[in-house]
Amino acid sequence: MPSPDAPLLRALRGERPETTPVWFMRQAGRSLPEYRELRVGTRMLDACLTPDLAAEITLQPVRRHGVDAGIFFSDIVVPLRLAGIDVEIQPGRGPVFADPVRSRADVDRVTSVDPADVAAAAEPVREAVRAVVSELDGSGTPLIGFAGAPFTLAAYLVEGGPSKEHLRARAMMHSDPDAWHALAGWLALVSRAFLSAQIEAGAAAVQLFDSWAGSLAPADFRAFVAPHSAAAVAGVDVPVIHFGVGTGPVLDDMRLGGVAAAVGVDWRVPLDEAARIVGAGTTLQGNIDPALLSAPWEVLAAHVRDVLRRGRAARAHIVNLGHGVPPETDPDALTRIVELVHAA
Ligand code: CP3
Repeated sequence: MPSPDAPLLRALRGERPETTPVWFMRQAGRSLPEYRELRVGTRMLDACLTPDLAAEITLQPVRRHGVDAGIFFSDIVVPLRLAGIDVEIQPGRGPVFADPVRSRADVDRVTSVDPADVAAAAEPVREAVRAVVSELDGSGTPLIGFAGAPFTLAAYLVEGGPSKEHLRARAMMHSDPDAWHALAGWLALVSRAFLSAQIEAGAAAVQLFDSWAGSLAPADFRAFVAPHSAAAVAGVDVPVIHFGVGTGPVLDDMRLGGVAAAVGVDWRVPLDEAARIVGAGTTLQGNIDPALLSAPWEVLAAHVRDVLRRGRAARAHIVNLGHGVPPETDPDALTRIVELVHAA
């Protein structure tokens, strides 16, 4: 069991522990030489579904940086692979689907898979999480599980791969709302099955990634997206962090009516401003600008101190980046950020 006194879990409850908790999105990955070494010869999604490998990769950044949480090494498209969908992750590009979901018939095809079958197929995920949690237990460090939110998953699935503006998914909402709601409703259940597998195996908190939510008009976010995201996490019995990029205009909606214990903020909105928007009932997570990871240390350190100072305006603060660690980041910069935050 992770300690209930772990700074991350206290901050999610709205308390201010003596040391501010810090972890990094994409802390496991290409910024670490030990990761690149382990991944040689194994495709990304195969690595995610090989329990020993996924567990070891999850633990690497916890050992190296002394962060306050592990984030389970997997990917938002893993539950889609478990649902039998033909998806690969192309290095340097991202998830690519053999059969994009464009028509009502395509939606009927993918949603015919029972989410219960995804839960059953998630045994390698449970096994990897159990291995991580048993290793982290000694230190009381919590493991964060995660899933993709329905819109971000649909942004890939409908397009068939990465896109800048996610035009096809946004078009489907308006041109065939029934098909959109059928697809997003199914994606919510599949993400929920993936989250439940991680929670059953010991994840102490979960993060819902709606990375591309910032591409939506606020009215569309409210009508077509937020209800499905809320369904993906409704009733989970661990604290929920809800993150998206470019979500300044919908930051209050990102609370999902209070279902989210914390909202993750990108680098565009200063945390004191974000705190005024989300109010006293929500913890903030963020929001170091990933671009500054390559700046001289004194520049980066001043930025981190500013993030900490503005974060005091929130009920509680979990330090993180405004988005993932860029692959070319010097990992020593991350270790120094952890030391600075813990000493502050
Ligand atoms: O350390 C962690 O944060 C945990 C693991 C994690 C990965 N993906 C590992 C990964 C998490 C939480 C994700 C979520 C994810 N995957 C998101 C949401 C977060 C975000 O960044 O906005 C998204 C949009 C994806 C889809 C995806 N998977 C992309 C865009 C890419 C990058 C493609 C590339 O090569 O640049 C991936 C691949 C991926 N997922 C890698 C990792 C470590 C890189 C794989 C490699 O080593 O080649």
